[in-house]
Amino acid sequence: MYTELKKKIKDKSAVITVVGLGYVGLPIAVEFCRSGFTVKGFDTNVRRIRKLKKEKSYIDDISSGEIRGACRTGRFFVTGDDGVLRSSDIIILCVPTPLRKVKEPDISYIIYASRSLRKRMRPGQLIIVESTTYPGTTREVILPELEKSGYQLDRDFYLAFSPERIDPGNPRYDLTNIPKIIGGVTEKSTELGRLLYSRIIDRVVGVSDAETAEVTKLLENTFRIVNIGLINEFAMLCDKLKIDVWEVIKAAGTKPFGFMPFYPGPGIGGHCIPADPMYLSWKARTVGFRTEMIDLAARINRMLPVHVVKRIGRLLKSRGKKFDSARVLLVGVTYKKDVNDLRESPALEIIKILGRKKAAVVYHDPHIPYLDISGVKMRSRGLTPSLIKKQDVVLIVSDHSCLDYRMIARSAPLVFDTRDVFARNGITGDNIIKL
Ligand SMILES: NC(=O)c1ccc[n+]([C@@H]2O[C@H](COP(=O)([O-])OP(=O)(O)OC[C@H]3O[C@@H](n4cnc5c(N)ncnc54)[C@H](O)[C@@H]3O)[C@@H](O)[C@H]2O)c1
Repeated sequence: MYTELKKKIKDKSAVITVVGLGYVGLPIAVEFCRSGFTVKGFDTNVRRIRKLKKEKSYIDDISSGEIRGACRTGRFFVTGDDGVLRSSDIIILCVPTPLRKVKEPDISYIIYASRSLRKRMRPGQLIIVESTTYPGTTREVILPELEKSGYQLDRDFYLAFSPERIDPGNPRYDLTNIPKIIGGVTEKSTELGRLLYSRIIDRVVGVSDAETAEVTKLLENTFRIVNIGLINEFAMLCDKLKIDVWEVIKAAGTKPFGFMPFYPGPGIGGHCIPADPMYLSWKARTVGFRTEMIDLAARINRMLPVHVVKRIGRLLKSRGKKFDSARVLLVGVTYKKDVNDLRESPALEIIKILGRKKAAVVYHDPHIPYLDISGVKMRSRGLTPSLIKKQDVVLIVSDHSCLDYRMIARSAPLVFDTRDVFARNGITGDNIIKL
């Protein structure tokens, strides 16, 4: 079984099914197809499947042209039918791992996907989990579910965890040049996973086991949440001290060792940084340990949308205005630049707070034509000088590359820039105030 699967991976005759065709699953599916494998994409979201069948993409990192290219190979199929799992040699799980309201892991998508898989399994399959999760999920939750099929690990199937590290919107690093970590529940599983990913990725790093691979991803995102929390706190302090935090970071960044720049912002968002460290802090509590750094960083980061609104309030006051008579235009509402991902975006919280203060809020985002915030529907407004001139404050939340910042600076009575995008583009003016 093992040797046969190895051979199929080597000669690319192995059929791969990617379960969950989102920001993570779709690029993987397309990349494996591009490299010569037959790939089947399975998703329970019928709208996404319908779009893919029309050869249309719904995420920024994959163009419709790439979907078309994959379909034209005759080796790329998409479906909403889980029967596809039986006809596959390799199954890669890329389903969501969100947080519950109480900020605890919600692994229900993983459990549901494992159940469908268990019902469709056949001997000779390699299963790889890419969804970010707490250490122990692969061995303690997924493995027992799969074993209910009667099949045996290392005899009938192989199971590994390989965290996804993609950075949507990053033009320099994509799936193929970000080293991939793989940790199997058994050595054979690690070996098969390593062989598979080395077909499409420049460097594959095998680790001792699935738990090590699971927690490696959580360390990476914990490193980020803690450092972002630190710099956000530092930014709030610099505001009190009347020091330009951006200049300080730039100066500190000239040190060739021992410092790595992180930047403040309006708050954290996306599917990863706000959620993943909470998976770790939850797991830590189950073994009687408190992750104080994570909890503190999360708390500080949650303060930023409120801090941004407070700064806007101060700016309005200095011009003799109050929120209830103010017009505010948010520019960029996604959680970071150049993506169409709204999940956990601080813009949503900022709009809610401004709404409660009765400010008249509109937004522009080339990636998000419509917004629905708890039933309040908004549509992206055209970014014209006349719209900008009517505002009391233009608030930059996400610094999309395609926007005309010179025009914004020329037209706006006042800009509050939470990303330092104007200075980075050499645009200055008394009307531009930075976080
Ligand atoms: N978005 C990122 O930048 C990123 C980066 C690294 C890791 N991750 C991790 O990867 C995982 C997936 O994230 P994403 O951003 O791609 O999520 P996503 O919501 O964009 O995509 C997940 C897809 O899975 C589908 N799905 C859910 N249950 C299913 C099931 N039982 N069977 C088939 N399809 C199912 C959904 O319909 C959806 O299309 C998460 O664990 C996330 O933490 C995300």
